[in-house]
Amino acid sequence: MSALIIWMLRWGHVVGGAIWVGGYALLAFVIVPLMAHARNDALQQIAIGAVRLLTYTGMATICFGILLITRTRGFANLIGSEWGALVITSAVCAVALLGIGDGALRPALRSIAAGGDARPARRYALIGFAITVLAVGLMTRTLYAR
Ligand code: HEM
Repeated sequence: MSALIIWMLRWGHVVGGAIWVGGYALLAFVIVPLMAHARNDALQQIAIGAVRLLTYTGMATICFGILLITRTRGFANLIGSEWGALVITSAVCAVALLGIGDGALRPALRSIAAGGDARPARRYALIGFAITVLAVGLMTRTLYAR
């Protein structure tokens, strides 16, 4: 039974992480560049909707991640181990991603619709994408970590 629970938690966590990576890739390399070329209300709504979805899936990734700690090496191993350093750094990445999405990218997307410069939105989407890729790298290292 316990193996099934760990598998379900890991599945939920990894799907949430995958949506985070894919969502930022779509925003950085497709949606925001398209918005820079042609002001389009539908695209604007899609972009804002995508950022909102990433906030919800991000929160789910974090919740599954915290539950996964209890089913893998536990909170007692968070301090003083490579495994703990990887999980804590990924948690910092996750909080930064939520902050970038809601605090920076969403307002920058709105300013494009108001005729503003698209470069800040592109920059935040690229930074977000880079952080998600880093987080996957850190997390997949956890299986081999001391
Ligand atoms: C609060 C934030 C997070 C916590 C607490 C957390 C926690 C965990 C834990 C405990 C594991 C299992 C480690 C093990 O098996 O020993 C894990 C695996 C994983 N996490 Fe996270 N994580 C967080 C954020 C993220 C983020 C932001 C991503 C990606 C965007 C991510 C992607 C993954 C992946 C892909 C795995 C599976 C690794 C594998 O099985 O090879 N995690 N996470």
